[in-house]
Amino acid sequence: MKPAFIFGTRPEIIKLSPVIRAFLGRGVEPLLIHTGQHYDYEMSRVFLEELELPEIDYHLEVGSGTQAEQTGTAMIKIERVLIEEKPDVVVVQGDTNTVLAGALASVKLKIPVAHVEAGLRSFDRTMPEEINRILADHASEILFPPTEEAKRNLEREGITGNVYVTGNTIVDAVLQNAEVAEEKSDVLERLGLEPKEYLLITAHRAENTDSRENLRKLVEILENLPMRAVYPMHPRTRNRLKEFGLLKRVENIENLIITKPLGYLDFLKLERNAFAIMTDSGGIQEEAIILNVPCLTLRYNTERPETVEAGGNVLVGLEKERAMDYLRRLMEDPEFYEKMAKAKNPFGDGKAGERIAGILLELYKKGELRVKSSRFI
Ligand code: UD1
Ligand code: UDP
Repeated sequence: MKPAFIFGTRPEIIKLSPVIRAFLGRGVEPLLIHTGQHYDYEMSRVFLEELELPEIDYHLEVGSGTQAEQTGTAMIKIERVLIEEKPDVVVVQGDTNTVLAGALASVKLKIPVAHVEAGLRSFDRTMPEEINRILADHASEILFPPTEEAKRNLEREGITGNVYVTGNTIVDAVLQNAEVAEEKSDVLERLGLEPKEYLLITAHRAENTDSRENLRKLVEILENLPMRAVYPMHPRTRNRLKEFGLLKRVENIENLIITKPLGYLDFLKLERNAFAIMTDSGGIQEEAIILNVPCLTLRYNTERPETVEAGGNVLVGLEKERAMDYLRRLMEDPEFYEKMAKAKNPFGDGKAGERIAGILLELYKKGELRVKSSRFI
């Protein structure tokens, strides 16, 4: 069997690594195609190295651009590789432009698409990711929703065949790397941080960074934090802060350490030892609940509602007062802290990668790995 993995950004590398490993463990060497949506060393290569993935077969060097430029360029370059390589299945993960490009290019060549982390919905169609999720799910043949809730989202849209709830591969990635991170990373010493005495912050979403007004609200939150904090900054946010004349203001906040984006081992160690996490990232909302760290999400909706329902995550949006209220409660009320920290991980047992590889191999053996003319017959 010849599976092809298409990925291009930091979270895709992290979340696909357990699936790639599971194939390798079964003696199948997958074809690895990197679109180059992320290209800085610390947004891409560092993860390939730390997660010890095999060499990439195709680097497509798509780079940055408008939504259509990035998606269109990726589609054109992916199509060329797929025509040449004729894989049995294309595996994509998540909701980036790389995923949409990979799914569209493949299905139109009648190569079946397997979508890992299918069925997530924020129900906010103004997010580029929501459009990508919906379209990628509908272009896919085999769907791997992480939870029953995600499966129900697919059902509501009429996608019921070849749907397998597997858990989220992020649990596998965390379990495979958290101990290594604890041993190998000296990030706390490097940054002069004590366990459970700092906040970990990330924010990079288009809706938070592309508008001056929203970015200013984010800066106001950062200026009012009641505790030391560390913010490994996504290049998109740094660029926007600079563009809107807000970077100096952020750099001058006394309590705040700003770093470049960090490698996975450093970042996992920072997450695990944080007092609490504030983020607009999808993957970090998941990792927080897996690592028993309270999470305040800097958004008004989430496609990970399971984390909120479990009690480990609160949506605070960009509302300074709301964010500060929750931070104060976490600091002053140990019972409230414990309750958030002990919320049960809804994303499975860390064997999602094994399940996904197993199911795809089984379908291949049965001759079922193909694009069918209809979902409904
Ligand atoms: C993308 C995904 C988002 C995901 C995020 C993971 C889409 C629509 N969005 O957002 O869902 O959460 O990746 O981090 O696909 N840049 C660099 N160096 C890099 C990469 C990007 O400087 O290596 C800068 C460029 O100025 C670029 C900007 O960041 O224009 C945005 O990058 P892009 O890949 O378009 O989207 P992300 O914000 O990273
Ligand atoms: N991450 C990392 N270094 C960082 C920030 C994030 O290794 O400086 C990891 C994090 O542990 C998680 C993933 O990157 O697994 C999340 O990526 P991101 O927030 O960029 O994207 P999203 O999940 O929102 O799509």
